Amino acid sequence: MSLSVKTEGQRRPPDLRLHENAEERLHIFGGRRLRGEIRVSGAKNSAIALMPAALLGDSPSVIENVPRITDVSRYITLLHLLGAEMDCSENTVTIDPQQVTSAALDGEPVRAMRASYYLMGALLGRFHEAHVGMPGGCDLGPRPIDQHLKGFEALGAEVEVQGGLVHLQAKELHGARIYLDVVSVGATINLLLAAARADGQTIIENAAREPEVVDLANFLCAMGAQIRGAGTDTIRIQGVSHLHGAAYSCIPDRIEAGTYMIAAAATKGRLRVSGVIPTHLDPLIAKLREIGVRVEEDGDALLVDGSYPGQHAVDIKTQPYPGFPTDLQQPMTAYLAIVPGTSIITDTIYESRFRHVNELKRMGADIRVQGRTAVVEGVPQLTGAAVTASDLRAGAALLVAGLEAEGETIVDGLIYLDRGYEHFEEKLAAVGAQLQRK
Ligand code: EPZ
Repeated sequence: MSLSVKTEGQRRPPDLRLHENAEERLHIFGGRRLRGEIRVSGAKNSAIALMPAALLGDSPSVIENVPRITDVSRYITLLHLLGAEMDCSENTVTIDPQQVTSAALDGEPVRAMRASYYLMGALLGRFHEAHVGMPGGCDLGPRPIDQHLKGFEALGAEVEVQGGLVHLQAKELHGARIYLDVVSVGATINLLLAAARADGQTIIENAAREPEVVDLANFLCAMGAQIRGAGTDTIRIQGVSHLHGAAYSCIPDRIEAGTYMIAAAATKGRLRVSGVIPTHLDPLIAKLREIGVRVEEDGDALLVDGSYPGQHAVDIKTQPYPGFPTDLQQPMTAYLAIVPGTSIITDTIYESRFRHVNELKRMGADIRVQGRTAVVEGVPQLTGAAVTASDLRAGAALLVAGLEAEGETIVDGLIYLDRGYEHFEEKLAAVGAQLQRK
C-alpha cells in the first residue's frame, strides 16, 4: 500500500457550515433563573467513535442522533479525506467505506482533535496498517497514548512513531490478552476497533466502563462483531473476518445533560432535562442532592430544582465511570464557587484541568489550586467579566459562571464550546437565559 498521506489540501466534503469563527464572543447577561425544558443531543464522545468504526464495514452505515458540533464536522472531513462517501443531513450521517483505500492521514484535521486517533484502530483493523498523525485535543496536561500502542503491539502490529505520525504495520492481527495500566476510554475504544476483525479472542482487562464504550461495542455488534462484557472492566472480543454496515443511533450526551443540570442549580432555576439515560448521570445526581438541590427522575428526563435554600459545599473526586466524570468537574467548580462553605475538588484523571479557575477568579470566585486539587470558598455572587475559555469544558464552566453572575460576562474562545454543545445558545435562550454571540 503506498503511503500517500492525504492532507487538508483535498476537496472538502459537504460543509456542515458550523460556527468556526474564532473572533466571535458570547455575551451573557446573568442572574436569570433557568426555567423550562432542554432536550439533550447525541453524545459527542460516542459519535466520534462510531464514525471511524463504520470504516470496518464492507457496506454503508447510517448513524442517527449525531450532534451537529465541530468535532463531528471535523470527523466527516477526516473520513472524506480517506475516500469514504459521506452523506450528512440534520443529525444523521451515512458513511459508505467501500471506496476507502488509504490507511494514511495527517494534517490539520487530524491534529485538531484527539479522537482522530480512533483512525489508528479502525484502519489497522481493516487494512492491517495505519499511518495517522499524532492527535491534538484539549490541553489538560500530558495525554500520552502508550496504552493504545501497547495494545496494538499485543495484537501483532509493529509500532513506529516518526515525523509526527504513528506508523502501524501488521502481517496479521491475532487475539491477545491486554491489561490496561491506566483505565483509558480512548485505549479501550481503539482496541475494540482493532480487535473486532482480528483472528481469535482478545481480552481487554482494566477496560473503561463509560457508556460511550458500551455504545461503540453495541454498534460493532450490530455490524456483526462478537463482543461481550462492554461496560465492565473485562471485555472479550471474538474476532470475525467481515463486518457489514449497520443502522444505529447515538446515546444521549450525559456531559451536555450534566452541564445544563448544573446551570439549573447555579441559577436557582427549575429545569427539565429530557432525552437522557438517567443512570448515566447517577454520580452527578448524587452530588447535586448532597448539595441540597432537588433532582427527580421522570422516565427519560431529570427534573432539577435549585430554588430551595440550604445548599452547602461538598467534596468531589473525579473517577472513571461510574465515578464523578472529570468532564463535569469544570462546570461544577463554577457552580460551587457560589455555594456556601468550602468545597474540595480533586481531579484524579488529569493533572492540569483547572485552567478555568483563573477566569472564575476574575469574576470574584475564591479558589486556590494545589496540584490536582482546587479549594473553593463559596462567595455570595460572581460578577460578570471578560473571560477566555482554554478548552471545551472550561468553556462550559464559564458559560455556567456567566449565567449565575450578576451583570454581563463576555466569553472568548467560543470555538471550544462549539466543539461539544449543539445549539447551546438556542437551548438556553428557550429556558430564559439572555445571551448573544457577536
Ligand atoms: C476521553 O478522553 C474523553 N474524550 C474525554 O472527554 C474524557 O475527559 C476522558 O475520556 C476521561 O473520561 C473523548 O472521548 C473524545 P482517557 P481520552 O484515555 O480517551 C491517561 C471532553 O471534554 N492515559 O480515558 O483521551 C490520560 O493521560 C473530553 O469531551 C495514559 O496515561 O481519555 C488520562 O490521565 C476531554 N495513557 C487518563 O489516562 C494512554 O495511553 C484517562 O485518559 C491513555 C490515557
